[in-house]
Amino acid sequence: MDARQMKIKAAEAALDYVEDGMRLGIGTGSTAEEFVRLLAEKVAAGFRIQGVPTSERTARLCLELGVPLKSLDELPELDLTVDGADEVDRRLRLIKGGGGALLREKIVAAASARMVVIADESKVVDVLGAFKLPIEVNPFGQIATLIAIEKAASRLGLAGDITLRTSGDGPFMTDGGHLILDASFGRIPDAEALAADLNAIPGVVEHGLFIGMASLAIIAGPEGARVLMAA
Ligand code: A5P
Repeated sequence: MDARQMKIKAAEAALDYVEDGMRLGIGTGSTAEEFVRLLAEKVAAGFRIQGVPTSERTARLCLELGVPLKSLDELPELDLTVDGADEVDRRLRLIKGGGGALLREKIVAAASARMVVIADESKVVDVLGAFKLPIEVNPFGQIATLIAIEKAASRLGLAGDITLRTSGDGPFMTDGGHLILDASFGRIPDAEALAADLNAIPGVVEHGLFIGMASLAIIAGPEGARVLMAA
């Protein structure tokens, strides 16, 4: 089974959690896109959901495939969000934001009664941090914010390059008009402490640590999909 087939397996399994009539947060990324494709087939067959996309990219795919969409302002309370992740640990703490949609993903997940993560085995880790942690920052004072992040990380014994994400010739801009700093900490033993310290920096809009948000994760490997529940 190749990587794409594993993503499809995880996405298929997630459909079991989607009920007719649900208000559904729809994630961003290649795994979430497989979910959108399968969801669109069910919608075409008469299944009714109302989707809230976590990015402009996901919104475009949903519109193209006929998945009905609402804004989060129209549907501020959601039953379920299905989304991918860049890393998942055994306590279902996540790193997200590889696709740059972490802010909307976190807002949508926080507005949902449940969050189901879909991923392949390569995303499961013992300790978060091998994947560069995306940190969304306001363009104003980005250097001051970067220095504040370095200092906060250093107080927790963390170090590593923090680089501005680029796209083409310029900086990558999020759907909200912010920048992304990618932090190569390597290992983040105390994700809760880092999350709290990053949240305390004024220029940090949001970070990619999702803690206490996922209800379960569907992890697809060569033998099929398994479910991870928070330990
Ligand atoms: C988007 O900002 C991310 O949080 C994605 O959910 C994450 O990067 C997973 O993407 P893939 O499914 O493409 O690996």
